[in-house]
Amino acid sequence: MQHLAISKMAEDLYLALSKGEVILSTRDSSGRPTGMTVAWGFFGCLWNEPYFLAAARPYRYTWQGIRDSRRFTVNVLSDAYAEGLRYFGTVSGRSEDKFAKGYFHINEALHDYCAPIEEARLLLDCTVVTANQLQPFFIPEEAIQRFYREDNGYHTIFYGHIDRWHRSEATGEN
Ligand SMILES: Cc1cc2nc3c(=O)[nH]c(=O)nc-3n(C[C@H](O)[C@H](O)[C@H](O)COP(=O)(O)O)c2cc1C
Repeated sequence: MQHLAISKMAEDLYLALSKGEVILSTRDSSGRPTGMTVAWGFFGCLWNEPYFLAAARPYRYTWQGIRDSRRFTVNVLSDAYAEGLRYFGTVSGRSEDKFAKGYFHINEALHDYCAPIEEARLLLDCTVVTANQLQPFFIPEEAIQRFYREDNGYHTIFYGHIDRWHRSEATGEN
């Protein structure tokens, strides 16, 4: 990856995360694609390699898929897909086949990818190398009260090595 391309990609990803326009997709134990809208995650460098660190609560169906498959795809979308993003951010794949709803489709051309979304303009395909839990004793009390008081669902951080990435042709960049 070239530096300029990486910095553009990082900016695009960061802004999309802050707007809730990213879907973390994976496959469940039967191989079915599933996923959820995410806002929390980090792009960076670890062991001289590019990584995306995803923060997922342990009771998400997506969490189970990532644990079982050890893979995920980070899909950057736009507000044109607001309805689908809302659906993926409120309904659980445990109760519904989310891709069957038709908001998003799997890009069959990217067959090396875990669960690439056709509608995404930027995709990062990741292999999970390790994971850890947020440690409550280091978290500021305000954050605990705001995000963990009700359900104790401290996030797991999945360390995804970025194996490959793709920009859709419409953006004209790579
Ligand atoms: C804008 C937005 C951002 C979200 N970010 C995260 C996140 O970073 N981590 C997480 O565990 N859940 C996040 N969620 C919640 C999940 O997307 C939501 O609970 C989803 O229904 C889980 O689906 P699943 O059970 O199929 O995995 C977010 C929801 C929205 C609407």
